[in-house]
Amino acid sequence: MRIGLLGFGTVGQGVYNLTKPREDMEVAWVLCRRELALPDARVTHDFLDILGDASVDTVVEAIGGLHPAREYVMAAMQAGKNVVTANKAMMAEFYDELLPLAQEKGVLLRCTASVGGGIGWLSELERVRRIETVRHVGGIMNGTCNYILDSMTRLGLGYQEALANAQALGYAEADPSTDVDGFDTRHKLVVSANIAFGVSLDFSAVPAAGIRYISDTDVAEFKKHGLVCKLVSCANAYEDGYEAYVEPTLYPITALEAAVPTNYNLITLEGSTSGRQSFYGQGAGRYPTAYNVVQDCMDFIRGRGFYCAYGPKTPVRNDRKKCYYIRTAHPDGWLEGHTAGHWGEAVITEQIAVAEAHSWLQNHPGTFLCALPDGKEGIETC
Ligand code: HSE
Repeated sequence: MRIGLLGFGTVGQGVYNLTKPREDMEVAWVLCRRELALPDARVTHDFLDILGDASVDTVVEAIGGLHPAREYVMAAMQAGKNVVTANKAMMAEFYDELLPLAQEKGVLLRCTASVGGGIGWLSELERVRRIETVRHVGGIMNGTCNYILDSMTRLGLGYQEALANAQALGYAEADPSTDVDGFDTRHKLVVSANIAFGVSLDFSAVPAAGIRYISDTDVAEFKKHGLVCKLVSCANAYEDGYEAYVEPTLYPITALEAAVPTNYNLITLEGSTSGRQSFYGQGAGRYPTAYNVVQDCMDFIRGRGFYCAYGPKTPVRNDRKKCYYIRTAHPDGWLEGHTAGHWGEAVITEQIAVAEAHSWLQNHPGTFLCALPDGKEGIETC
């Protein structure tokens, strides 16, 4: 296998180093903006050099972001090259273009590192689907948010201090919005659900609530009730439709999710025969991510492409009801009408539909919203 590697940042360098000693694959080209000299690969600033080299059979996209990643990947597949990517944003937002094109051109496409980093989550979903129906996918998919929430819960740090530590460690970007507002988790959820259920969920209908406005008083309140807050994704397949959303969620301290430390991920599926299976590991980082990129290349050598066939475009309806913890500086009639009790400064709502709660949140910036655990045990006010 001769690889054209797009990008030589954290993941790209990891892929280069992991493939170096291998005899079954080699990085032939590296696309890199800065000046770089490599002993055994040609370096270029021009993607067309890679596209035009017929000896390159596989493109590894490690530049991230939507553009020009999408254009490069589409062009590579048009030219008959297989593609491995770790780019969840591109896979989620252009799923309806990328997978049909791969199928039409008969090229192989995989993105295992895009969800769960070093966890073989998507490739395991593919195996699960061979013999059973997946009813649920979701869990802790963002290491940065888990690091912040874990630091607030276990170390008693405030949000800003925890975020600054996450930035110092290289987990969070200078602008942390993609992580803390839940958008990264939404991308990962949509990619996972599309593969698990064999559909193409309407991405724009998947709401995401993040952790930007959580405070140390919220965390103290949760502790009083024996609960831990995590940012989680959830997608369910029902007989009559699909639900998918991202929101901070409370777990009893005895739950597996509550125990997930620092920047780890814990991703779960529920199969119709196997029941719950959870996958724990490093959701990011150079070598965990590069590991799954190289695994995808190995799968290409064995002729394995995407995890499922492209499925139909499918609406999302989030009408399941839950109780929420809502702390806002702007209470209104809707909130008063749904109040079942109070925890400190926050309202505990009666059961309301997920879609309704998220749509109210959209119009109340600065609010922190968090779902209570399923079931009412121990939640006196709900
Ligand atoms: N920002 C992401 C995270 C990186 O923190 O999980 C891995 O996708």
